[in-house]
Parts: sequence; structure tokens; C-alpha cells
Amino acid sequence: MARPRIQRPDLGGPFPEHVAIIMDGNGRWAERLGWRRVWGHREGAQSVREITTACAEMGVKSLTLYAFSVENWKRPRREVQYLMRLLARYLIEERPTLMSNGIRLSAIGRLDDLPEVAMSALRETERRTAGNDGMQLRLALSYGSRTEIADALRLVAEDARAGVLAPEDVNEETLRRYLYAPMAADPDLVIRTAGELRLSNFLLWQASYAEIFVSHACWPEFRRPQLLEAFADYARRVRKFGGLIQDCPAPAPVRAERRAAEG
Ligand code: FPP
Repeated sequence: MARPRIQRPDLGGPFPEHVAIIMDGNGRWAERLGWRRVWGHREGAQSVREITTACAEMGVKSLTLYAFSVENWKRPRREVQYLMRLLARYLIEERPTLMSNGIRLSAIGRLDDLPEVAMSALRETERRTAGNDGMQLRLALSYGSRTEIADALRLVAEDARAGVLAPEDVNEETLRRYLYAPMAADPDLVIRTAGELRLSNFLLWQASYAEIFVSHACWPEFRRPQLLEAFADYARRVRKFGGLIQDCPAPAPVRAERRAAEG
């Protein structure tokens, strides 16, 4: 199926290749309107649709969405059930859109915790989209960064005990191979909605050098204009990765400012 042509707006600087989003504020948004919290999740699923399609159209290579944390199991049973059913429905109904945009879907987290209805929808959507060559959409489900690191360390210890891995070979790169998505590039940009200034146990290893953008919009309100605002902000950032400013590729406006300052 022919995929729509990539249309990337010129924001005057680099574009993030891997975007990761902490989708927060569904409940607050609904309560502000006098609605039940779960209606916020339902509307949040519309934002998932719009943002996923927008990212694919703009040529983002990889999008990771924090859809359900290991801590979220502590929520009231009815809210958890609603979220799991919503997830299963999304995974089924979204297949044509994923296919027409060439999106490959996968998931990270303790996926064995998911109820059968969500798990089977996930596996089937992964299977059907596996051959797509466009954007990688990764859902973080029953995900926690500390759990991910602990799970990785357990596998490292097992391999060390089995003699497959020598303790002196354990370094950043070997540890990365034991994370849930070893081949995934680190996120360039982490977006959090609803104004909170926290990472909430999301991609703590991978986001070490990510740029962070906090939007005051609640997730159901976060649509294309808010996404473009985040990308425009990213285009103005200078990423140093611990190095010095002159060693780094800088966005065009910053390069122009530097040239002007240098005379
Ligand atoms: C945070 O809002 C959001 C979640 C815990 C779940 C995210 C789920 C969705 C966006 C819905 C659908 C997802 C998919 C993949 C179809 P919150 O309830 O914590 O908001 P609050 O902080 O205002 O209470």
C-alpha cells in the first residue's frame, strides 16, 4: 500500500528521530469538564491516533508512548479494566491506519502481566505490521524503568553464571543488549504533558541525554499544534552530550548567532 509522502515542516533546526511521550493528565482533563476520569482515557486514545499519524507523516523514525506503567496496576480495578479494554480496542481498530502509514507496532514492558484480551490484540497487531518499513511505534505497557534495569541485571547474572558473559565484559553497551528494546536508539526528545516536571520511571537509562519538553496541555488536548510547538522548541536546542558547545552540530539559527558573535 502506497504510504503518504513525508512532509516535514522546516523549523530551522534538527528534527528529533526518536520521540518518547509521557501521556499525562487524562483524568484531570475529564474531571475539569465534570466527567468521569475514564472519559479522559477515551479522549486520550484520540490524541494517540493524531500524534502517531502526525509523527509518521513528518518522518519521525521512532515513537515511544508511555501507555501503562507498572505502578498503574495500583489504580482502581474498574479503571485498569477500562484501560485494558481501550488498549485492546485501539490495537484492533488502528490496524488499517497503521498499515496505510507504514507503521510497525511493538511493545516494551512486562507484557506477561497484560490480560489475554490485550495480549492477543497486541501480538496480532505486531504480526500484521511487522513488514512495514515506516515509523516504529513502541507502546510501553506494564513498563517501569527500574523494573527494566532489574530484569536486565537478572539476565546478565544468569549469563554470567552460565559462563556466557564474563563480569569484566559488562559495560554500558553489554547492559544495553539486555534492555527490553536493545536495538532502539535513545530518545532525542521526551515530551511530558499536563505540566508535571518528572520522568516517572520512564526510560531512565535511555533518556540520559534526551531533551525534555513539558507541555501544559493535558494529553487529550495534545494534538498537532502542540506537537509542532515541542518540535520547534527542540529545533532550538543545542545538544552537547557532555562535550563542549563548539564540538556539537547546532541548529541553523544558533549557528547564525554564533557566526554573528564571532564577527
Ligand atoms: C495518564 O493520565 C495516562 C495514563 C495512565 C494512561 C495513558 C492512556 C491513554 C492515553 C489511553 C489510551 C492509550 C492507548 C495506547 C490506546 P492520568 O489518568 O494519570 O491523568 P491524571 O494525572 O490527570 O490523573
